[in-house]
Amino acid sequence: MPTGLESRIAARLAELDVAGLSRRSPHITLRRGCHYALDGRPVVGFCSNDYLGLADEELSAEEDDAPATTAAGAGASRLICGDLEELRDLEAELAALAGTEAALLFPSGFQANVGVPGALLERGDLVFSDRLNHASMIDGLRLSRAEIALLEHGAAPPASPRCNAAGVTWWFTESIFSMEGDRVDVEAARRHVQRGGALYLDEAHSFGLFRGGSTLSCEYGLRPDVLIGTLGKAAGCAGAFVATSATIARFLRSRARSFVFSTGVSPLLARRLRAQIAALAGELGDSRRAALWRNVRHFALLVGVEESRAQSPIFPLLVGDNLQAVAIAEALLDRGWHVQAIRPPTVPAGSARLRLTLSALHTASEIEALAADLRTVFSTYGLDLASATRLGS
Ligand SMILES: Cc1ncc(COP(=O)(O)O)c(C=O)c1O
Repeated sequence: MPTGLESRIAARLAELDVAGLSRRSPHITLRRGCHYALDGRPVVGFCSNDYLGLADEELSAEEDDAPATTAAGAGASRLICGDLEELRDLEAELAALAGTEAALLFPSGFQANVGVPGALLERGDLVFSDRLNHASMIDGLRLSRAEIALLEHGAAPPASPRCNAAGVTWWFTESIFSMEGDRVDVEAARRHVQRGGALYLDEAHSFGLFRGGSTLSCEYGLRPDVLIGTLGKAAGCAGAFVATSATIARFLRSRARSFVFSTGVSPLLARRLRAQIAALAGELGDSRRAALWRNVRHFALLVGVEESRAQSPIFPLLVGDNLQAVAIAEALLDRGWHVQAIRPPTVPAGSARLRLTLSALHTASEIEALAADLRTVFSTYGLDLASATRLGS
């Protein structure tokens, strides 16, 4: 006899099924770069965030020369007895890469975004937040006491916002938007900072993609007050960091609840992360970045996206309807391509899409064959591929 809760949840699942919104995790086996078996079928993946193909890299001892650690766990939160050398060394390297005084590790980007705003924002602050910011930033802002004003996607905060004289005016934005693939307006961000506004920049999808393995803000000489970098995307591993001033980092150590009340990152993971970061910032990273941006330009040309709009390895292909997006993803799978359908609440209602991402490891012939199949499959569903790529423009 199902309990009240069981039957309520079963009903909710049935509703999700009808709306084309239920989800399951496809089973991946035998992964080697962008090739793997998905539920047993061999595919080429075009939906990972491992943009530089570093997740499966076997890193040599040279790149990984830190003293061996056998410690699997930090043992406690950083503030109790988990502040191990491996974590501090990694933080120093991340700060150097991001060009900031300090960096603070978090177990994930979600945890960083959920914990940092609540610590830094105060009543009387005014936050301009892009409507399409990642769920973790939205949740983090909900935990703060600041007033929040949503910005249309891509818009900048007004030059003279109505704000309590004592309050800080923030702009919360991603640098490369995870589901749109476009970039923040760097000049508008610079003006916001010059006017004395504070910039909270989530570089989850840009950290590692620019010169020397750095960020979009470093590339353009932009100085965010708070930079969030994630280590599970271009760095090919897991975790996240906040790069900021020494003063703000010191405060976050005391007040960011998801840092204070959580076990420190595993020292084993930190050791591997140091090797990943060395690879990202070194020659391997340089050659992978060159290959990645070459692949981005190649794919853009094939699907008719002008070079100025090919700003990242992320290409959203708008479908609209949830069930149709899933059907198109299935049809591509039948042809050996794994491109996930992305549906609400990850994207706004009515804007279900395929989110296609390129990797440095894709070959030119794979990209060409995919582009040809995309055109065929989209037209089977009465959709024009060129129009589907024009999301937001
Ligand atoms: C913009 C953005 N911020 C934060 C995160 C969360 O990072 P993590 O996967 O490390 O939790 C993501 C993950 O997809 C993201 O896209």
